[in-house]
Amino acid sequence: CAQDYAAYAAQDHDTYRRLYARQEALLPGLACDEFIAALPSLGAKDRIPRFDEINERLHKATGWEIVAVPGLIPELPFFTLLANRKFPVTDWIRKPEEFDYIVEPDVFHDLFGHVPMLFDPTFADYVQRYGQGGLKAHDLGAGEKLARLYWYTVEFGLIRQPDGLRAYGAGILSSVGELQHAVRSNDPHRLPLDLLRAMRTRYKIDSYQSSYFVIDSFAQLFGMTAPDFTPLYERLATEPDIEAGVVLPGESEVTG
Ligand code: PHE
Ligand code: FE
Repeated sequence: CAQDYAAYAAQDHDTYRRLYARQEALLPGLACDEFIAALPSLGAKDRIPRFDEINERLHKATGWEIVAVPGLIPELPFFTLLANRKFPVTDWIRKPEEFDYIVEPDVFHDLFGHVPMLFDPTFADYVQRYGQGGLKAHDLGAGEKLARLYWYTVEFGLIRQPDGLRAYGAGILSSVGELQHAVRSNDPHRLPLDLLRAMRTRYKIDSYQSSYFVIDSFAQLFGMTAPDFTPLYERLATEPDIEAGVVLPGESEVTG
């Protein structure tokens, strides 16, 4: 579908403006450098941006483009879009009553949370590879396991940067409460990203995460996901799931 720009009411633009301003102020010290550097590329802060305007800049930067969708889409079309360097962005915005938290992604989550990272060349390549891998996982019946990798990287990933832990996951970066929780709180567990471990780990969709996985760089993430996952899926089929918030014997958590 196309972004129906005329359908936004003044209240919708105002909701976006207020969400943007509040979230932008929280970023220093919590969001990764790449995200902070690319955020201005979204353009307008005082209204919902036009997707076309973003696409002019995004396409030049990394060859990605955003496409408007009415909401969450099924696995197969989702993987297909990503494999073609197209990122689906929900076009509607939350109602003022849901200002602090919504379970479903809206245009603020999708634009503010996801799109700045697509300006980073290595991360942008990772997301495309993920889409290609998703098509294969779908055929192998491993789509659900691979979805956990998306969850623990693209949505809720943490990265170790020279100044400390930072967020790169969109679910963290677009959330007023989870940003502080994910990066600074002593409550959640933070483990170094291990593919098998992350794809065994269940996740919660209606509360802050109790487990996060940490990478050292986007090049590391890209490199570790480059090999064929087929043997990994075979192992996953025999290994039991792990609940979120659990640290297994012998695992060591990442500190600050
Ligand atoms: N290398 C994975 C495979 O062969 C594909 C993939 C790449 C998955 C990047 C996730 C991220 O299935
Ligand atoms: Fe998302």
